[in-house]
Amino acid sequence: MQTAPETASVASTEQPFELILQRSQIRLPVAPGESMADVLQLAGVALETLCEQGVCGTCMTRWLDGEPDHRDSCLSADEQATHVAVCCARSHSATLTLDL
Ligand code: FES
Repeated sequence: MQTAPETASVASTEQPFELILQRSQIRLPVAPGESMADVLQLAGVALETLCEQGVCGTCMTRWLDGEPDHRDSCLSADEQATHVAVCCARSHSATLTLDL
């Protein structure tokens, strides 16, 4: 008897979205399985990271528009209202605007 796969990969359930960097006027696509931190660093944006697991808060970045999918365990609800941990968060909306 054939059984279904135990779990689908996380990347296969994620949707792509676009990062908008407000101050630099740059738009960057984020593919499923990619982190915003990786995309930002590959684009040459100076960004400090440490844990890359949503634990330390080092990568905390102010967001301006969109609907972040917070996946960190370090930011309070108040902090999440204005900031996002770009090493682990994604976006529920098609675009997410950062104060960068
Ligand atoms: Fe630690 Fe993002 S690098 S929370």
